[in-house]
Amino acid sequence: MNSDEILKKIENVLNKAKTEFNQTIDETSLEEIYKNYLGKNSLLNNILHSMSNYEPEIRKKVGMSVNNAKIEIEESYQNLKEKLKVANSKSNNSLKIDLTLPGIKIEQFHQHPITSVLNDTVEFFTSMGFEVVEGPEIETAHYNFDALNIPDNHPARDIWDTFYLKCGLIPRTHTSSVQVRTMEAKKPPLRVIAPGRCYRYESVDATHLFMFNQVEGLFVDKTAKLSDLKGILESTVKHLLGVKKTRFRPAFYPFVEPGLDLDIECVFCHGKGCSVCKSSGWIEVIPCGMVHPRVFEYAGINPSEYKGFAFGMGFDRLVMLKYNVNDLRLLYSGNLDVLNQF
Ligand code: DAH
Repeated sequence: MNSDEILKKIENVLNKAKTEFNQTIDETSLEEIYKNYLGKNSLLNNILHSMSNYEPEIRKKVGMSVNNAKIEIEESYQNLKEKLKVANSKSNNSLKIDLTLPGIKIEQFHQHPITSVLNDTVEFFTSMGFEVVEGPEIETAHYNFDALNIPDNHPARDIWDTFYLKCGLIPRTHTSSVQVRTMEAKKPPLRVIAPGRCYRYESVDATHLFMFNQVEGLFVDKTAKLSDLKGILESTVKHLLGVKKTRFRPAFYPFVEPGLDLDIECVFCHGKGCSVCKSSGWIEVIPCGMVHPRVFEYAGINPSEYKGFAFGMGFDRLVMLKYNVNDLRLLYSGNLDVLNQF
């Protein structure tokens, strides 16, 4: 090798060392590189050791070049070492974990109580072959009243404190409005539930809002009987509220005959009598009855061929009873302190 070739080799070694240092991000590999280039068996040392083979003139040149390269490598090494030290101490500080600190509570998603009882109800009824249907919230007087055997000017209309829109439509006062719509759209036999919002012109207090949820149920086939209605609704309140004692009372609703109210034993006083059940020991939960023949006629179904029963649960009330909530407004307040308790 002539002197130019040796000098070129030294330059290459130096460049390679610099590139490797530049790519280093941790102290271990930095030491490794340092050993490779300046350690006992490094290439530069080997060149120095073989110097005795060369002419004095070449020896001088090569010796100087190796020394300069060594100085440059040493400098790069020291600089990088310092930089890595600073970087490491910074990241160590930011990673320090104090195991005695309390953990950060991760907020978990949960359903609104009304949604979760509604889902439970839907699951329960669909397991018995019921299907979920929907109707419009802004309804015609025909489906909300007339087709349910509640003609205009009939005093029974007063039971439902109705908002009237200028266009003549009404925000539905109950989900019973879905009954005739469904019977017109589907052929019997039918098993449907229709959950949804309803609106009434009420003064707002702990148990009344102008907007509330109901779930309507409708069962139609050739052999539907009152005992089917009783069996299904008794198992519904047992499933949803866990109550064992129930009773049916006669009641009047224009679209059913006979009409009934299903009561449960008061969940607050267990039948002893309290302010919630007005000392009766019972709470009314599901109005219901056998579909009135005139409603079938409105829907185009022959009442001597088909029978049916219907029920309408005031849904928010069920949620209040289930979770012992004494003010309906709390459920709609959006107050997380309240909702997080469920
Ligand atoms: N729609 C009635 C209301 O809101 C409740 C009701 C009563 C629904 C009897 C029914 C029923 O389906 O058969 O007051």
